[in-house]
Amino acid sequence: SLNSSVSYFDRVVEAADYLRSRLTDLMPRIGIVLGSGLGAVAEAVEITAIIPYSEIPHFPQSTVEGHSGRIVAGRLMGVPVVVMQGRVHFYEGYTPEQVTFPMRVLGRLGIKTAILTNAAGGIRPEYQIGDLVLLADHINHLGFNPLIGPNEPRFGNGVKTGLRFFDMTQAYSVELRSLAQEAARADGPALHEGVYLATTGPSFETPAEIRAFRALGADLVGMSTVPETVVARHMGIEVLGISCVTNLAAGISATQLSHEEVFEAGSKVQHRLAALLKRLTPAIAAH
Ligand code: 6GU
Repeated sequence: SLNSSVSYFDRVVEAADYLRSRLTDLMPRIGIVLGSGLGAVAEAVEITAIIPYSEIPHFPQSTVEGHSGRIVAGRLMGVPVVVMQGRVHFYEGYTPEQVTFPMRVLGRLGIKTAILTNAAGGIRPEYQIGDLVLLADHINHLGFNPLIGPNEPRFGNGVKTGLRFFDMTQAYSVELRSLAQEAARADGPALHEGVYLATTGPSFETPAEIRAFRALGADLVGMSTVPETVVARHMGIEVLGISCVTNLAAGISATQLSHEEVFEAGSKVQHRLAALLKRLTPAIAAH
């Protein structure tokens, strides 16, 4: 609806109802959000529907190159999933509510697990370009929380969800991380686990900022994921976060940072990420 008096909750419901109508009998169990250049796993989906964001009522459109802006829905290794190829960011000028709108819609569609992937800058000295890092925790350095404003309990599912105040000690599920480690073991060495710090961007950091973030306990720095995690946890959805180290952060790296570098490194690692997610989704669906 174009009527701005329609509530945020009603807009989410309208978008979710629209998606539901496009998914026939598919009941997505897992929502996967793919970051910059990380689209490959969508190619492994046995497709039920491909839905450009532009066709979904109220859905925000990404303005960033390399974020394609569509939902691929279907089965990944037999598991019903919705894959978001591309997301919107605060730095594009979207409000926190708009940034988290898609995650609200996935919640309303009934996903139980969100897998949030992103491209990130490595702060920990042992991280190398192309490493996959499981998020153990995050630091919200965005300057806002997407839940500021009246609480909407209808986003919960009844059992200790949709609350005004809620716990974030296990924002990133320990169980999901352990399933991810098991899935990775087949392929090679253990995955790193680290703390992700979110900045607004769009500029990358100065070396002094990176030293400060390191002192705060950050291992990775990026411009996404944190708002989605917060609203997912509000809805009682379990979260697995996976960063792809696309570059080393300022002062860690000898070279200057560019979006092209981030995008190219993402393109190279996306096939390893896809292999990991293919092994992981059946284990998540069974846990
Ligand atoms: Cl170095 N910083 C931030 N904020 N986001 C990034 C990044 C760095 N590299 C990829 N994404």
